[in-house]
Amino acid sequence: MGKSGVASAASLVANRAAAVAVEVDRLFDALLAIPDDPRRRLYEAMRHAAMDGGKRLRPLLVQATSELFNISHVSALRVGVAVECIHVYSLVHDDLPAMDDDDLRRGKPTVHKAFDEATAILAGDCLHDLAFEVLADEETHPDPFVRVELVKALAIASGTNGMAGGQMMDLEAEAASFDLQTVTRLQQLKTGALIGFSVDAAAIMARIPADARTRLHGYARDIGLAFQIADDLLDVEGDAQVAGKALGKDAAAGKETFVSLLGVDRAREQARLLVEQAKAHLHGYGPEADLLRAIADYIVERDR
Ligand code: IPE
Ligand code: IPE
Ligand code: MG
Ligand code: MG
Ligand code: MG
Repeated sequence: MGKSGVASAASLVANRAAAVAVEVDRLFDALLAIPDDPRRRLYEAMRHAAMDGGKRLRPLLVQATSELFNISHVSALRVGVAVECIHVYSLVHDDLPAMDDDDLRRGKPTVHKAFDEATAILAGDCLHDLAFEVLADEETHPDPFVRVELVKALAIASGTNGMAGGQMMDLEAEAASFDLQTVTRLQQLKTGALIGFSVDAAAIMARIPADARTRLHGYARDIGLAFQIADDLLDVEGDAQVAGKALGKDAAAGKETFVSLLGVDRAREQARLLVEQAKAHLHGYGPEADLLRAIADYIVERDR
């Protein structure tokens, strides 16, 4: 893609992401109506974490893939909010003093700073639970078999074989010296699994047989890795003001990442190659996959 192609891909993503962000915030507002009782603080903490911030990449991916399979807008939005719940919970816990000990997230104080640690733990727990409550609801999809499959897929992507397992490996990465293969596995779990779910969800809702999802899985695997390499690059050379979070943390913690193993230039080259490979998986699709192509480009061009 030429320079102007990249520019129009960026504006396509920016426009669509902005629209998704408004809808995601609206649904969170409805789901997290503050009760007039002592649980008020918990709801306020969940709203602080979940609303008004973030790139909303995962809900955007659910929408982009839903366009390939004519999934209803409401279904795509609700599944997007479910995966965003898991993502936000993972960020709240990731920022806790026991993990990365961060004070700033999405340009705001982290939940344990704005509230307190116990409230942050509970807010994370309840965002995790809310994800599955949303998926299991009839409004998300009329077919109960599809709903069970969505619940199962998100559970796998969140647990030991997904995000949380990757977070464990990430903690171990401070003391261990992992090779490239192990760091790749770590990132596939920590970041790739939820991105993989976001891409797969529409295929689940459209009841596409598993063996017909190979191209999409290839796309998801490649953008997932590229996304984490971009996060590691931002940690080294990004602008904390723009990113809305503290940077330079990985090297300070002595953490093995793609950048520590490959160096900045080769890591960036690797991310670009992965994006081209991701788009090559979409060759069989026409313009209906343009948003997915644009998201792949955005993932390595982003500055936050
Ligand atoms: C940050 O995720 C944590 C990683 C998985 C690398 P995002 O970069 O998607 O964070 P938000 O949602 O935009 O805040
Ligand atoms: C966290 O990775 C990924 C999660 C699963 C939450 P990082 O620790 O690198 O994310 P940032 O850099 O704090 O956003
Ligand atoms: Mg971390
Ligand atoms: Mg962190
Ligand atoms: Mg990071």
